[in-house]
Amino acid sequence: MTNERKVTDIKNIVILTGAGVSAESGIDTFRSAGGLWEKHRVEDVATPEAFARDPDLVLRFYDMRRERIQEVLPNAAHHALACLDAEWKGGLLIVTQNVDDLHERAGARRLLHMHGEHLNAWCTACDQRHVWRGTLFERPSCPACGVPGQLRPDIVWFGEMPYRMEEIYAALNRADLFVSIGTSGAVYPAAGFVRDAREQGVRTLELNLEPSQGSHWFDESRYGAATEVVPAWVDEILRG
Ligand code: APR
Repeated sequence: MTNERKVTDIKNIVILTGAGVSAESGIDTFRSAGGLWEKHRVEDVATPEAFARDPDLVLRFYDMRRERIQEVLPNAAHHALACLDAEWKGGLLIVTQNVDDLHERAGARRLLHMHGEHLNAWCTACDQRHVWRGTLFERPSCPACGVPGQLRPDIVWFGEMPYRMEEIYAALNRADLFVSIGTSGAVYPAAGFVRDAREQGVRTLELNLEPSQGSHWFDESRYGAATEVVPAWVDEILRG
């Protein structure tokens, strides 16, 4: 079954983005290079167990990623989505799995980070979050409660609950169009959004370099580099 909604019927859009959107800015995706993420297995750096086992490795790894994202720039895909955000009069929510800040640096406002943010540190002693551009390896004190050694990257690791799920499902409930961009569809719950959307009659579109794991769930798929397919789609939808 295909959800046949014309562009002119579309008012509310939910966009899910993944690592593919930032790839052309120079940030490695997760599932390239044989499942290694910057030469580390995901389980060695992106789980609470890994942090408990080897906090030095995990903090160093995230310090390096935090430094890296501050050296790169938003690309044409981030800019196109920011332009859509500025110009789209209907409802819009960009749900990103990315922990970089490239969407907001391009100017996107109607955005939420379901997997956390590199530029935040979270104090597990007082539960406050702080904008954090430096390193955490030296175990700095929390600026709010003063307790040392309790700040961790504000990243949702495997086995932890993604952020703001209620808001995401509420937006999916209102949506007329769900667009998935640059994500492999390997990690739930985000990978399940397309099925949730379809069950509610929402039109679904995938923009990706190659078919994702759930590509058969989409009404339409367009394959190519994000810096090409995303601006082309945004142009099309804004022209109606
Ligand atoms: N343009 C468009 N798509 C691209 C590009 C590009 N230039 N380069 C890569 N891709 C696609 C890949 O084909 C792949 O389908 O982007 C997708 C990236 O997939 P993943 O590396 O699995 O990244 P993502 O889907 O965001 O991962 C989801 O997994 O490790 C966790 O929490 C982490 O948020 C992350 C989640």
